[in-house]
Amino acid sequence: MTDRDAGAPIAAEGGIETMAAVVQERYDTRPEAVLRTGRLPRPELRPGEVLVRVRAAGVDRGTWHLMAGLPYAVRPVSGMRRPKLPNPGRTVAGVVERIGPDVTGFAPGDEVYGTAPAAFAEFAAARADRIAPKPTGLTFEEAATVPISGLTALQAVRDKGRIRPGQQVLITGAAGGVGTFAVQLAHHLGAHVTAVASSRKLDAVRALGADRVIDYTREDFLAGPQRYDAIVDIAGNRNLRDLCRALTPRGRLVITGGETDGRLLGGTDRQLRAQLLSPFVRRHLGTFIASEHADGLSELTTLIDAGAIRPVVDRAYPLTEAAAAVRHLLDGTVIGKLAVTVPLD
Ligand SMILES: NC(=O)c1ccc[n+]([C@@H]2O[C@H](COP(=O)([O-])OP(=O)(O)OC[C@H]3O[C@@H](n4cnc5c(N)ncnc54)[C@H](OP(=O)(O)O)[C@@H]3O)[C@@H](O)[C@H]2O)c1
Repeated sequence: MTDRDAGAPIAAEGGIETMAAVVQERYDTRPEAVLRTGRLPRPELRPGEVLVRVRAAGVDRGTWHLMAGLPYAVRPVSGMRRPKLPNPGRTVAGVVERIGPDVTGFAPGDEVYGTAPAAFAEFAAARADRIAPKPTGLTFEEAATVPISGLTALQAVRDKGRIRPGQQVLITGAAGGVGTFAVQLAHHLGAHVTAVASSRKLDAVRALGADRVIDYTREDFLAGPQRYDAIVDIAGNRNLRDLCRALTPRGRLVITGGETDGRLLGGTDRQLRAQLLSPFVRRHLGTFIASEHADGLSELTTLIDAGAIRPVVDRAYPLTEAAAAVRHLLDGTVIGKLAVTVPLD
């Protein structure tokens, strides 16, 4: 593997076609220490896969977890000692270059979006059941930010939260990647949405349809008399007792995320406790791992095409600055999502 400029054209090296890509060889919490641009062989297609010419990739918390190998609970999947995949990009938007054996429903030239391993590269091999036609009204960089955050929000708000018109809903982490979709979805479903965010992000969540906003840096968002039919808890790691108290007697708590410094489990111990406690209380306490599938992406496409939801892209970085994009994600200033764009040859 050579280390040429990421913008260099695809070339055959010793008979192998290569591509510009972000390359990561070990785990580290510092993106600039481990993410460099270089060249990799173009991915081989297995049955059921589609080769996507990547136009943009998304950046999210999962990108960081895969890059850092933290919490350790991710390593049985991501690689025990070093990353199994050449880079931590996970979501793509691009154009179908080639279809593999046993793939129907896609053809070269189709514009698609979805999830794919090692997405910080000129090409990615995506499972055909994890991509869908790209929403026509979105740019590639907008579309690339949707798959994981949008699917997570859809499953949290609609499927786990079972939010119905007129319900009172509280959403924490409302200005983040998942939260910006969750606020719009809850509003679209007719709920009265209370969104929690820090001071400079309040206007943004209001603009997405929040009926009420709470600045958690100034006010305890669980302290007031309000009781919620559903709490979609995306950030903050508040304890379960406080969250339960803020629910109506039959309310639903959907623990979606929450970052901690815990190197072994991250915030997942709180999620496990909620699952264990739920059968013993009247309120429903739950958590989930978002499933990535084409049907959900098609539902998001319908919602986006109808104008019900849209991605909020804070900034896009070129592929050569993927490390700066992940660093930006960590600094706490991002509203919505970040993208990495891939140069065309
Ligand atoms: N269950 C799943 O399958 C699944 C899927 C995707 C993501 N996740 C998890 O969901 C969480 C959010 O992901 P994301 O992509 O939305 O992350 P993100 O884009 O970084 O957004 C997180 C948001 O949380 C807010 N926040 C940070 N500390 C907070 C605190 N103490 N109290 C309240 N809000 C706080 C941040 O903004 P402000 O503090 O400035 O308001 C930020 O907007 C992560 O833990 C991620 O791992 C889970």
